[in-house]
Amino acid sequence: MTCQVLAVASLKGGCGKTTLAVNLAAGMMAGMAADTGRRGRVGLVDADPQGALAHWAAWRGSGGPAVSGLPGVLAGGTDPVAVIDRMASNHGHVVVDCPPSLDMAVTRRIMERAWGVLIPVLPSPLDLWACAETVVAVHQARERNPGLAAWLLINQAEPASALSRAMTRSMAGLEVPVLGCMVRRRAAFRTAILEGVSVYQLGARGRDAAREIDQVIEEVMGT
Ligand SMILES: Nc1ncnc2c1ncn2[C@@H]1O[C@H](COP(=O)(O)OP(=O)(O)O)[C@@H](O)[C@H]1O
Ligand SMILES: [Mg+2]
Repeated sequence: MTCQVLAVASLKGGCGKTTLAVNLAAGMMAGMAADTGRRGRVGLVDADPQGALAHWAAWRGSGGPAVSGLPGVLAGGTDPVAVIDRMASNHGHVVVDCPPSLDMAVTRRIMERAWGVLIPVLPSPLDLWACAETVVAVHQARERNPGLAAWLLINQAEPASALSRAMTRSMAGLEVPVLGCMVRRRAAFRTAILEGVSVYQLGARGRDAAREIDQVIEEVMGT
């Protein structure tokens, strides 16, 4: 099977790219383990020059005994696409945490290399309008990579509030489909990062969060 590269991208900072990239990669590993009875190879590339993900991996001691079930992380450095290619040569899946940069060049090059791109968006019309630029980048990347799949994912959804009418209207106007499932605002996502793990390693504390990530993976991979 050829390696599937999934980019988590948005030109907007703070929408959950890093959080989702870590947990999606961990969830893919868990899923592959369940399917095949052995750990699948899933890698993470930190293409954000701010390097939060690589920092997190170094901090949790990637040089020491690895926490079982967590993917390896490579820093994208100055040429993230080369790093993605290197990781793709011996992994089943590579998840890429893209930069929130106004200079779209890097994100666009990653989208040209990717199989799919997931765009997290906070549940407010303002945030949805702000991701229009990212949607344009998807269209531009498709000129070179016509098969590129793309979805918006509502992140940090509030349990009680149904999406407003304005939000629903705005979503209908976008050319990139919105995933049917959402990721709720949950303390487990912050706790996991703080503890140097993903929600899959939190046991009962992370169960609901992990179930949501599983749904995202199922919807994206089932496409
Ligand atoms: N579903 C969620 N529930 C709770 N907190 C979240 C969730 N997603 C992201 N966060 C928090 O929101 C902040 C921004 O998320 P982050 O993943 O760093 O975004 P980005 O990488 O897009 O800048 C972080 O403090 C993170 O812990
Ligand atoms: Mg980030």
